[in-house]
Amino acid sequence: MDVKSCVNLWVQPTRGLMDEKFVVLVQNVLPGSQLTVRAFHRCEDGHSWEAFAHYNANTSGTVNVAEDLSLGGTYSGVEPMGLLWSLRPVPGSKPGLRMRKMNVQTPMEVTISVYQGHQTEGFMDQEPLAGVMVERWYMAPGVRRIPITEGGLSATLFLPSGPGPFPGLLDLWGGGGKLVEYRAALLASHGIASLALDYLTPKITMEKGKMVDNQYFETAYRVLQQHPQILGSRIAMLGLSFGTSVTLRMAAYSQVLKPRCAVCISGSHVQPVDGSLEQVMVFFAENAVKTRFSEQDEVIWRDLLQPIPTDPTLKVDVGRIQCPLLLVVGEDDQNWPALESAMDMKEMMERAGNSHLLTVLSYPNAGHLIEPPYAPHARASSFRSVSTGIKVMALWGGETAAHARAQEDAWRKMLVFLKANLYGGTNPGAASLSNL
Ligand SMILES: *[C@@H]1O[C@H](CO)[C@@H](O)[C@H](O)[C@H]1NC(C)=O
Repeated sequence: MDVKSCVNLWVQPTRGLMDEKFVVLVQNVLPGSQLTVRAFHRCEDGHSWEAFAHYNANTSGTVNVAEDLSLGGTYSGVEPMGLLWSLRPVPGSKPGLRMRKMNVQTPMEVTISVYQGHQTEGFMDQEPLAGVMVERWYMAPGVRRIPITEGGLSATLFLPSGPGPFPGLLDLWGGGGKLVEYRAALLASHGIASLALDYLTPKITMEKGKMVDNQYFETAYRVLQQHPQILGSRIAMLGLSFGTSVTLRMAAYSQVLKPRCAVCISGSHVQPVDGSLEQVMVFFAENAVKTRFSEQDEVIWRDLLQPIPTDPTLKVDVGRIQCPLLLVVGEDDQNWPALESAMDMKEMMERAGNSHLLTVLSYPNAGHLIEPPYAPHARASSFRSVSTGIKVMALWGGETAAHARAQEDAWRKMLVFLKANLYGGTNPGAASLSNL
C-alpha cells in the first residue's frame, strides 16, 4: 500500500496572526503508528529554525497536536503551540541566534510536515508524508504602516484597520536600539494605534552623535495625541528592559507625557533620576564591574543595578505615578533585576498610597525577553550594546516551556489591561485587574 498518498495533514488557520493558535491534525495514518511532526522556518537573515515532536497515532489513525501527547522532541507533553515556541536553530547553525521579524509587511512562513517514525535528525534527506505552508502575520488585514520622521523622530506608526478613532500606545524596546516594529504591528492588529520608536539609535543620534532627551519622547507622544485617528487622552506607554526605565521616568516626572496606563516588561526603576538618558547609560556602565559570567561565558548583567539603592536620587519615585501600572517579571531574568525592582516599586507605592494602581505579573522560570506569544525562546543570544558597541553573548534566562507559557499569559493579560484602561471609564485605577 502506498502509505504516503493517503496521509492527510490539516492545519487551521493556514494564515493567522502571530499570537493566534493553530490546530494541526494528521489523519489517515496507520493506527498506532509512530510519527514526527516538524515545523521549519527560514528567517529573513537566511538562518533556518526547526521544531519537532514525536507522536503515536490513535486507533483511528489520527494525531491531533492540540490534544495529544508529544513523547519527545523539542517539546514534550500536550503543547498545542510547541511547534512554534520550541523552534530552534537547525544543528550546525552559528551560536547566539535570536529570531526577530524585520519586515512586518511579509508573514513568517512556517512549513509543517509529517514524517514516518520518531525522527530527530536528517529531515532534509527525507521525504515527508505530507506538508503544509503556514503564514503567521504581525499585521492584520487593513493595518496601516506609516513611517514617521516629523519632529526628528525615527518611528513607525501602525494604525488599526477601520476609521477609528483608536486608543494609542508608545512602544519602546531595550538597549539594543534600532527601530523594532513587530510588537507595535501586532498591537495595532488588536485595535491599538501603536508607535514603535527608535530612541537609542535614531537618525538624529546617528548623525549628531548625541543621545535624545526627554523631549524626544514627549514629541512622540504629541504625534500620537494630535493624530486625527487617535484618541488624544487615551494613550498608553509600553517598555521592555531599558524601555521600562524611560517609561517609568516619563510616567513619574513628565509634565507633557501623561499616559493613561503603562506596561513595563522586565525592567527597573533604578536610575539617576535627575540625569539625562545619556547619564542613565553612563550610570549602568559605571556598574559594569558587577558583571558576572555563566559557565558558558555568557554575560550576566542583573547585578549591575543591585542591591536596589535606598538613595531616592537613584530610583524613579514611582509613588508619583498616577496611572495604572502593569509590571511583567520573569523570575529567572539574568539580565535585569526585574523581580527585586518590582518588589521595591511595590513597597514604594504602598508607602506613597498609590499601590492600588499597581499590578505585578511574575513568572517562575521565565527569562528577560518576554515577547509576544509563541516567539521562540532565546535563553542567550549575541547582543551588541548601544552604549559600548561591544558584541557579547548575553544571558537572558528562562526555561523554554515555562517561558513560552509566561509569554502567552502575559500578552493576554496585557491586552486586557490595555483595553480596560484605554477604552474604560474616566476613573484611573477603576479597571482594577482582579479580572486578570
Ligand atoms: C483519535 O483522535 C481523533 C482526533 O482527536 C478523535 O476524533 C478520534 O475520536 C480518536 N479516536 C479514538 C479511537 O480515540
